[in-house]
Amino acid sequence: MKKKITAPKIYSMKNKEKITMITAYDCPTAKIVESAGVDIILVGDSVGMVILGYPTTLEVSVEDIIHHSKAVSRCSEYALKVGDMPFMSYQASVEDAVKNAGKIIQKGGMDAVKLEGGENHIEKVRAIINAGIPVMGHVGLTPQSVNLFGGFKIQGKTEESARQILKDAKLLDQAGVFAIVLEGIPEELAKLITESVSCPTIGIGAGRFCDGQVLVFHDMLSIPEPCYFKFVKQFENAGEVMKKGVENYINAVKNGEFPEKTNSTHISEEIINKIKKERGLKCI
Ligand code: KIV
Repeated sequence: MKKKITAPKIYSMKNKEKITMITAYDCPTAKIVESAGVDIILVGDSVGMVILGYPTTLEVSVEDIIHHSKAVSRCSEYALKVGDMPFMSYQASVEDAVKNAGKIIQKGGMDAVKLEGGENHIEKVRAIINAGIPVMGHVGLTPQSVNLFGGFKIQGKTEESARQILKDAKLLDQAGVFAIVLEGIPEELAKLITESVSCPTIGIGAGRFCDGQVLVFHDMLSIPEPCYFKFVKQFENAGEVMKKGVENYINAVKNGEFPEKTNSTHISEEIINKIKKERGLKCI
C-alpha cells in the first residue's frame, strides 16, 4: 500500500531521491498530479495570477488559500500538501503568522505551510514550527516582494545579494524548516546553498543542482497557452488539446451532430401521444 508522504519524509529524501512538487488549486488537478505520483502538492499563492487573473500574488487572501486548499485536500491522499501563506498573513507579527498558519492547516486541511523570506521573518518561522506546524522556506525571487525588487527580477546576481540569500537559507535551515524553495537565482548560488544546508532545496528557475524541482501546473502543461519563461519546460501542450476539444464541441452543436440519440433519454411514444392528445396537438 502507498504510504502518506510527510514533512520528515521529504527532509530525509535529500541526497537520496529527487523531490517533485507541482501546484494545484482544485480537485481535478490534485487528482491528476497525485495519480501521476508527485511528492508535494503546493496550493501556491500563484493561484492569484494563474486562476484568479490578478497581475501579482499580492491580492491573494488567507480565505482564498483556504478555499482552494479545501478542494485539494478533499482530493489528495498521499502527497504532502503545502499551503502558501499569502501576502500580509505573516509579515506584520508573530501572532498573525501562527494564527494564519493554523487556519491553513485546520480549515484548509494542509499538512504544512510555506512562507517567503529568511532573516527578516525568522522569528515567525520559529514560532510556527513551535506551534507544531512544518514550514517550507522560500528565498530568492520571492514574488510577494515584487515591488521591492522593481519587478519579477532574478535575485542573487551581486555579491551582496548572493551572500544575503545564502544567509537566509542557512538561518531557515537552522530554524528547522523541512525544505526551502529557491526561486529565480543563479545555478551556482543554488548549488552552493544546496551544499550548505541540511534540508532539501526545491528549485524553480534555480538550475540543475537543487534537491528537487517545482513548477506551476498550468505553466508546464501550457494551459491556456505556452509559457515562454526560460525556467519553464513545456511537458505537454494541454491547452491546445483542451482548446481543440472545445472547438469540436462548438462545431458539433452548430452542425447538429451533438447530442446524438445515444446522448439522450427517452420515454414511450404512447405517453407522448397521450399528452399531445390532451393538449389538442397532432400525434406522432
Ligand atoms: O505560489 C507558488 O506557486 C510558488 C511556487 C512557484 C514556488 O510559490
